[in-house]
Amino acid sequence: MPIDINKLQKQSGIIGTSDGIRQVLEMIAQVAPVDISVLISGESGTGKEVVAKAIQKSSKRTNTPLVIVNCGAIPEGIIESELFGHKKGSFTGATENRKGYFEEADKGTIFLDEIGETPLETQVKLLRVLESGEYMRVGEAKTRYTDVRIIAATNKNLEELVQKGSFRQDLYFRLKTVSIEMPSLRERVEDIGPLVERFALEFTRSNDLLYRGFMPEAIRTLKQYGWPGNVRELKNFTEKILVLEMGERITVDMVGRELSDTFPVADRNTALPVLVNQSTDKAEIDLILRQLFLLKQDTEVIQKMLVGGAVGETSDSSITMMDHGKPGLNIQERSMEITEEGQRLIRDDAIGDMKISELEEEAIRRSLRFFNHNRRKTARSLGMSERTLYRKIEEFGIEPKIKRNS
Ligand SMILES: Nc1ncnc2c1ncn2[C@@H]1O[C@H](COP(=O)(O)OP(=O)(O)OP(=O)(O)O)[C@@H](O)[C@H]1O
Ligand SMILES: [Mg+2]
Repeated sequence: MPIDINKLQKQSGIIGTSDGIRQVLEMIAQVAPVDISVLISGESGTGKEVVAKAIQKSSKRTNTPLVIVNCGAIPEGIIESELFGHKKGSFTGATENRKGYFEEADKGTIFLDEIGETPLETQVKLLRVLESGEYMRVGEAKTRYTDVRIIAATNKNLEELVQKGSFRQDLYFRLKTVSIEMPSLRERVEDIGPLVERFALEFTRSNDLLYRGFMPEAIRTLKQYGWPGNVRELKNFTEKILVLEMGERITVDMVGRELSDTFPVADRNTALPVLVNQSTDKAEIDLILRQLFLLKQDTEVIQKMLVGGAVGETSDSSITMMDHGKPGLNIQERSMEITEEGQRLIRDDAIGDMKISELEEEAIRRSLRFFNHNRRKTARSLGMSERTLYRKIEEFGIEPKIKRNS
């Protein structure tokens, strides 16, 4: 029985009325019921994971596990053991026999995110499991078999990686047979209105905030911006502006102010920044600048609390951000009075009682929160590799390493 597109859209929560989104939905409807591997490509934040989940939901394997593996986040040294499992004693630290993700996903679906990041040696093994379901645990000579459906995603151009020699051509050909290309948000600006509406409703509802909607001109302005971070960036923006303009109807001025605030390097001569051609890198630098700015403000708020004798939860950046919207707490003005002495990030009396690892953990936690748990951006902002970040997250027990849905 063919899948009804409207039902699929409702069930999957994929918002959009553009041709691009219609085509994606049609592809999902076509490929979901067939047990075939799928490659989803597209820029960061375009909804690749949403699509992967929609495929699994509409497939025959809907009641079996969906195992999500971020290939870019697993340290190279253990990626094969993570994917295929290992035998006790096969390497230092292998104290038990261990199942890999492919084994856990047996009868279900595996989502290999950022497949372009897998090391070449692992790619050979992926090809084998893709073609025949066969694999071996690390340190074992026995061939095992798994019945999984593979969905892979990449925000890299795999063809370019093949040319550069970092991605195997045979694996690329095998993967690209069925592929879904996610359009960037700037290629489907008509979806911006419905997306903002949905994100705003969800956010205000779950946070018990008053929501009065966006003025049509405000939405029109949002359509002029390039959204290098695509839907994820739009979602973050929507949530942020709702917090800053608490309870107000969102006007074109608010959007303009917030856009130029968020991206301070933009051309100040125009009333609105024209950011359509802004590269992702630049947008990320802007985000980082903004993060630093917020951190600085946080410090000032803490400073103020210290002077006032109360150090409370206000060091939480999200709470501080809300404070920015409140009249009366004019942080920018205050910052002029703060002396160089006061700008120190670490209080003198904390010295002798302070560990680098704690500072590191704090920086990671706050950056994660700031970047809405986007680990790639967090890693970049902290100047560490994504792999290192994942290791630290695990080390500090900040978040579960790999998401698994069952
Ligand atoms: N069409 C859509 N409708 C509703 N929400 C969407 C849509 N596309 C993306 N989102 C939301 O945007 C955010 C980013 O989506 P997702 O994680 O699927 O992107 P991605 O392509 O996997 O990004 P990355 O390459 O950075 O991993 C999520 O919060 C997701 O729910
Ligand atoms: Mg993703």
